[in-house]
Amino acid sequence: FNKHGIFVERTLALIKPDAINTADEIETILLNHGFAILQKRRVTLTAEQCSDFYSEHYGKKFFPSLVAFMTSAPIVAMVLTKENAIQQWRELIGPTNSIVAKETYPDSIRALFGTNEQKNAVHGSDSAVSAEREIRFFFPNCIVEPIPIGQPAKDY
Ligand code: TYD
Ligand code: MG
Repeated sequence: FNKHGIFVERTLALIKPDAINTADEIETILLNHGFAILQKRRVTLTAEQCSDFYSEHYGKKFFPSLVAFMTSAPIVAMVLTKENAIQQWRELIGPTNSIVAKETYPDSIRALFGTNEQKNAVHGSDSAVSAEREIRFFFPNCIVEPIPIGQPAKDY
């Protein structure tokens, strides 16, 4: 990608409380779609942490309910990588509202594992800027710089 190394795009994925019991199935699907899991953490967010993560939605009607849902049980946070990972992961998870996903993209993860506009099983970063912020949010030590050629990927 440049003289310092190759760049492999990363994105932040969450398995939300409504899908925590199907986390293994979701992981199998994403691995079968060519994503690699660079980092993984199971965590229960506090309301403060969750409000920070979703701060772009602060003040919206659904915000309090979203925070209550997202803090109701553990979630799994993962750093995923693949060529064009951000867009590819958004495509695989499908539309925000799982009811819409079931109608328009029945093979998507939100169609298969989610229920409605709130309980939609998974999260995916929506842009490169969001991905970097969200990866750092859950994995403060995760290296997001290009990977030097010859270095084993597992170290990153
Ligand atoms: P948003 O960023 O719009 O969707 P996405 O997760 O696809 O990027 O919204 C963040 C989350 O907020 C969404 O995954 C589910 C929840 N949400 C609601 O509960 N009600 C709503 O009307 C919307 C738009 C989102
Ligand atoms: Mg979003």
